[in-house]
Order: sequence, then structure tokens, then C-alpha cells
Amino acid sequence: ATIYLKDYTPPNCLVDQVTLDISIHAGFARVAARLAMRRNPVSAGGPLKLDGEDLQLESLSLDGQPLTASAWRLEGETLVIDEVPDAFVLETVVRIDPDQNTQLSGLYRSKDGYFTQCEAQGFRRITYYPDRPDVMAKFVCTLHADKASFPVLLANGNPVAQGDEDNGRHWATWEDPFAKPAYLFACVAAKLDMVEDYYVTTSGRRVRCAVYVEPGKLDQCDHAMAAIKKSMKWDEDVFGLEMDLDHYMIVAVGDFNMGAMENKGLNIFNTKYVLARPDTATDTDYQNIDRVVAHEYFHNWTGNRVTCRDWFQLSLKEGLTVFRDQQFGMDMHSAGVTRIQEVRGLRAAQFPEDAGPMAHPIRPASYAEINNFYTATVYEKGAEVIRMIHTLIGKQAFRRGMDLYFQRHDGQAVTCEDFISAMQDASGKDLAQFQRWYNQAGTPKLVVRSQFDAAARRYTLEVTQQFPATPYEERMTKDGLPQARGPYHLPIVIGLLDGEGRELPLRLEGETSPVGTQRVLELREAQQRFVFEDVATEPVPSLLRGFSAPVLLDYPYSTAQLTHLMAYDTDAVNRWEAGQRLATGILLEGVAAIQAGKTTNDWIPQDYITALARLLGSAFVEGGDPALVAEALNPPSENVLAEQMEVVDPDAIHGARMTLLRTLARELREAFLAAYLELASDEPYSPEGEQAGRRALRNACLSYLAQLDEAGAQALVVGHFEQAGNMTDTFAALASLASLDIPARHVALDSFYSKWRDEALVVDKWLQVQALSRLPGTTADVRALMTHPAFDIRNPNKVYALVRAFCAANPKHFHGADGEGYRLAADVILQLDPMNPQVASRIARCFDRWRKFDPARQALARQQLERIRAASSLSADVAEVVGKALEA
Ligand code: ARG
Ligand code: ZN
Repeated sequence: ATIYLKDYTPPNCLVDQVTLDISIHAGFARVAARLAMRRNPVSAGGPLKLDGEDLQLESLSLDGQPLTASAWRLEGETLVIDEVPDAFVLETVVRIDPDQNTQLSGLYRSKDGYFTQCEAQGFRRITYYPDRPDVMAKFVCTLHADKASFPVLLANGNPVAQGDEDNGRHWATWEDPFAKPAYLFACVAAKLDMVEDYYVTTSGRRVRCAVYVEPGKLDQCDHAMAAIKKSMKWDEDVFGLEMDLDHYMIVAVGDFNMGAMENKGLNIFNTKYVLARPDTATDTDYQNIDRVVAHEYFHNWTGNRVTCRDWFQLSLKEGLTVFRDQQFGMDMHSAGVTRIQEVRGLRAAQFPEDAGPMAHPIRPASYAEINNFYTATVYEKGAEVIRMIHTLIGKQAFRRGMDLYFQRHDGQAVTCEDFISAMQDASGKDLAQFQRWYNQAGTPKLVVRSQFDAAARRYTLEVTQQFPATPYEERMTKDGLPQARGPYHLPIVIGLLDGEGRELPLRLEGETSPVGTQRVLELREAQQRFVFEDVATEPVPSLLRGFSAPVLLDYPYSTAQLTHLMAYDTDAVNRWEAGQRLATGILLEGVAAIQAGKTTNDWIPQDYITALARLLGSAFVEGGDPALVAEALNPPSENVLAEQMEVVDPDAIHGARMTLLRTLARELREAFLAAYLELASDEPYSPEGEQAGRRALRNACLSYLAQLDEAGAQALVVGHFEQAGNMTDTFAALASLASLDIPARHVALDSFYSKWRDEALVVDKWLQVQALSRLPGTTADVRALMTHPAFDIRNPNKVYALVRAFCAANPKHFHGADGEGYRLAADVILQLDPMNPQVASRIARCFDRWRKFDPARQALARQQLERIRAASSLSADVAEVVGKALEA
């Protein structure tokens, strides 16, 4: 059933206080809940409805009196009580079965104990409750469990009491002083090791920070702990926001559907974003840990203190919190590299989503299953929208807007409009038109054309916006909710470069003197013109600096202009972007050449090779940035290239990209080798900054050299693998070897597995490199790996490492012409759906772009989609994704 934003009504009953008593036993748990409730004065009234899912009701009473059979009923799984007084206490006892909870939503068993995940609607799987974010209550929670098996008992807030009881059991009570929605509830009963440290806030609160992990893994917690303290400091420095509790706990669990969860004072994390040691985690893993720890910590204000009125507002907390973790990332690491990686990610995941059947605005107006809307659009495009506000009103006004937002809404459940209003009121900028970003789906396209009038020394940019309707708007129209569409308000950050690569002072028409060399142009109209005066020679425009808006840019750059920007643009993102544009043009030529049956590489211009050689050299001059050069050496992915094609040809794309990489490897062999040798280091490992940047470039050079069909180069890769002193280097070599059809491949994979078979996250890497191999036979290999002892379909990380990596990032084989990739995906989806619909649905999203392929592939994909749709008792999650894919 589809749910609509327009149907929102306030809850008819509120909860002031929740007292939970959760008793865990082998084979079941009993949950007693006492809810102090009252009628909501602003609601229209009506019966009390409590959500429930997979609960066995054992008793029910109101104000101490058991309810008679006629006083209540179940409508589906919803508990309905027609008559309730203005204020009352409702008590329920339910039995649940956490051991059989394979969905990993609600209370579930994992290897070392019991854990919870309640966002979005998991709390109803623990007890009957008005499970919606605008019902905020104070929680007290008592846990009981076997003491020897589950010595650690945790819940949100502060520990208030604990003790032992009969039969070797024990109990603990926790109290959270802040009212919160049920989706932020968490508890844990497990056998875990713990490391703790203290952080003292500016106002003097001494916060105990604790990280709980699987026994024996304390040597993998240091980085997460440091990230907590860095995040706390940063949020104080940048936003004036302090930790508001005495305990801040992170618990790592190996079975987890998503990355992590911001439960008040008790974050639960996927182990992937906690555990790290130099020999088990890569530089990228370390950075991801920083970012996810920061993200969940930042939610304490943007999400928990101020939460969402309803789930349509998800981007209110997620877009804003991603923006905050991005800013943190830019402050902690290289700002340019961080931003480039975000742009790459947005193009790889969000743009295709916005162009496919699941397209939706950052605030959708309808959904069938909310878990399907934890998307790149809500998160990453949502963050881009916040970033645009930041760019349009400036840093100081943005900070005033945040202050005002908290001043107005602390302790409330609010909407995206409330956030915009705070930003508008604090800045004085009219953001009415800007709100279209919340309501319109699809990636807008900016068509920019320039004109230079040498006599008048005038340079004119003419910008046209295109924003065609998506399947989302068509669906809404069919549902009788036509969505108005109009031009966006967005910032175009711009600079102009002269022939020497110097930045020109910028004087816009009507101004008396230039104002700097970089400007924020505000686009509001469908077509708008920006005129620069006093321009002596035709400049090269550097448009959308820092990727100032999440749009497609159409400007007819010449190769010479792009190489000029690559060399001279002061904006790191646009230097990188120019290289990507250049590579894209060349690769699309290569695709056409391959499709025309050519086997030569004459579509690769010598100029491009020269530009890359210069780029590589630039890493070694004074002020050079190896990490940026590593990014620039990596051409657009096969998936990003696919988005550029009318009809995708995955084989030709792969062929063109490989030909380019091999040609560069041959032409620049000496330079790559020299750089590789020069960048060697015997410093002790640190995941930070410069050292990681040099490693990134060194490993990029290695991956080029690995493409040379030469024994010497292959020996180099094998040596790198064998001598690596950290996982970053090991993994880089392993990934290269996994793509080569040589005996050393098997030797490396086998030795890696036997060394790391007991380290789950490292085994995930082993599965992933094999899933990503473009060698013939990969689809069969992936199928075989699904029966390997290392794989477990019930563990989301394993499914993501093997199956999702294959389906989402190995287009050559997922879209293999024999249809075996599609069949594999469908088999997994059908097997997984009854166990874990959220993960099954994520795999199903890999079919999103099926209509972009040739008729033969479309027929094969359709066959599998129809097969999935026909399955009996399909989850709402998979049904929505597959339904939309077939109908769009
Ligand atoms: N709020 C969490 C985060 O942003 C994500 C939890 C989503 N969980 C889910 N089952 N959909 O980090
Ligand atoms: Zn989040």
C-alpha cells in the first residue's frame, strides 16, 4: 500500500513515559511495556492504534485493569482500542523470538549476543507502540539475561541500577533523560570487550566514551575512539554543539543491514565502520570509520535533539548530517580529495538513481516501503542541497541558521520547511524557489554557452536549465497528485582563466570594479545571462567550482581548454573534472571504434598521454599533492560512462577503458615505475594525510603497471603483495592480481584467505576482489563462492561484498550477454527476500538501469524481474523496487 505525505495527521495519542522490561531467554524474549499516555489535544481524536509486527500478545491492561476481549482488536497486526480516557497507562506483555529474527530489524541475535535496530520501523517488532517519529517519550529500560553468556547489558542514557537474580541471570536498568522517538531506542545484551576514554566538553561535562566489540578485538578500536573525540571537538568548534549525556557508547556488531545507527547515547555500528588495524584495514576503511563515527555522532543534534515529523522528512536529518560529516571530512583530510570522492560517488550512485525508475525528490511525496528510501538521493543529494544553501547564504549566515533552527525546534519533530525557514530568517535570503529541490526529482541539466565580444571586451555566459519530468512525476500524476515543476535556484561558482592560466578579476555588468576572481552566480531563471566586463581576451570558464550544484553540465569545452583547466585551474575539483571530461570524450570515441570493429587504439590522442605525464610529474614538485594526482589518474568508471550512452554496451565500455589503461601503462611505463619507486616509504604506518596520499598514488601507479603484459611488471605486483606492510598495499596488489589470468592470482588469493579466514571483514575483501574481476568465468566463480564456507547469505556484509559488488560494480559480467548475471541476482533476491527483505531489496536495485541496454539484454533482465515479481509472498521492499522497474 502506498503512503502519501499529504495524508499526514498528528498522532491522536502521545506517550510521556515508556518503561520497558526485556527479559531474554534461549528461544524467546518477553517484553513488558508500560506506556504513560494521553490524548493529543491537537488531534481530531479516534481510537488508539498501536503498531506491532511479529509479536505474540500475552497480556493487555489499561490503568491496571485487564482489557476485556470486546475492548480491543487486531486490525492486521495493529492493536486497536476504541475507548481510552484523556490520560491513561497502558501495559502490554508480548513474546518475541529474537533468535529467528533474520531481518535484523527490531531485537535480533548475532554471534555475541542480542542487538537492536529500530529505524525506521523496527520498534514495533519489540513491543506495541505508536511507532512514528513525532511521538517522543522518555524511556526507562530494564534488561534481564544470562550473566555468563551476556555479561554486558546496555540501553540508552545513564545506568541507574543493576543486580543479579536467580538461575545465573542478571539485570540492569538504564534511563534516558531526553524524550525521543522510538526509532532511537536501542539495547544490547552480549558478551563484548570494552575500551573507554573521556572527553570533557567546553562547558565541563565529562563524557565517558566507550567502544564495545567482539571479544579479542580491542586492538582494532583505537581509530574509532579517536574519531569519537575528534567529532565531539569539531561539532563544538564549528557549530557550538556539545554532547549532552554522560555516556556515549558505540557497539559494533557483525550482522547489520546498514552502516550504523545513531540511537541516543548508544550507537550501534556495523563492524566495518569500527574495527581497524593497519594490517586489516585500508586507508579508505580508516577514512570511512572517521566519517561514519562523525555522522552518527552529529545526528545527536541533527536527528535526535531535533528529529523528523514523519519519514517523508528523512532528508531533514540525513542530508544535513551527511553535509556535516562531509565538512568534517574536508577539515580532517585533504579538502579537494574529499570533495572529489563525493562527486565521484554522487555520479556513480545518485545520478543513475535520479535517471531510473526509483527517481524521487530528496523529500518524496509517497512511498510503499520506507526502508527503500534510505537512498543516495535522500542522503547524498540531500547533502548537496544543504551545501547549496551554505554556498548561497555563506558560512556565517549558515551558522546563524543552524543556531536559529535549534533555538526554535530543540526537542521537536519537524519538517524540511522548518529547516529552510530558519535558514531564510537567519540569512534574509528568499529561499521559496529553492524549495523546489525538495519536491522535484531528476538531475537538472545546465546548458551553458559563451560569447566573447573582443571589441566590447565583454564575455557572456548564457545558461539554460533543463528539468524534464521523471517516472516519479508521471506516477504522481497517475495517482492524482500532479507535481508542479519549475526552474531551480542554484549557485554556480565560477572563475575565468586567461591564456596564461591566470585567474581574471571578475566584474559583472553593472558593477564599477571587479570583486575577486571567484564568484557565486545565482541561477533562478530557466534561461539567464551573466555578463562579465573588461575581459581582454577570450577566457576559459571554470564552471561549477567545487561542484557547486548537483547538475549535469553541458558546455562545449575543446580539448585544449580542458588540458588548460587540468593544468591551471585553482579549483581542485575542476582540475580533476577537466581530466574526467577529457577521458570521457576519449573513451566514448573508443567505444564507437570498438563497436565499429576496430582493434586499434588510435582514438587515444597523444595530447592526452602528454597531459597525464605532466600530471604525474606534478605530484613531485614543491606543493604537489599525490592524493589529488591519484584521483586524476583514475578515469570515470564503467558505470559512469554507461550513463553517457543512449544504449549501453558494457563490453565496448570495458574494452575501451582497458585499452586506455593499457595504452597509458605502455606509454608512461618509465614514469609510472619511477613514481612507484620514488614513493616507497619505510615510515611506520599511519592512515593519515600525506602518507596515505603517497600510498594512493603509488598504488595507482602499480595498478597501471599491472596492466602491462610483462613478466617483470607482474613480478613487481607479486612482490608488492608479498612485502606489503599494511592492508592498503596488500589489498591494492591483491585487487590487481585478481584481474590477471596468471598462476600468481591463485597463489595470492589462497594465501590471503588462509591468512585471514578468521577475520570476517578481511574475508569480505577477499570475496569482493573476486566479485569485481573482469576475467572470463567470474559469474560462475561468484556462484561457486556462494557455496564457499566463507560466504553466509544471512550476513549482510557478505552479501554486499560478494553479490552487490558483482551486480553493482562489475557491469561487464552482471550485464553479461548470456543473462547469467541477471539470473544470479534474481536467485539471490528470491532466496534472501524471506529472510531479509531490506538486503534483498538493495540487491534488486541493481536492475534499475535495465532499460538502458540493448533489446536482447532487456529481454533477459525482464525475464528475471518478472520471475521475481511472480514469487509468492514477496516483501513490500522488493515488490516496490521490482514493480517500479517494470512499470517505468
Ligand atoms: N540513520 C542511520 C544512518 O544514517 C541509518 C539507518 C537506516 N536503517 C534502515 N534500516 N533503513 O546512519
Ligand atoms: Zn544518518
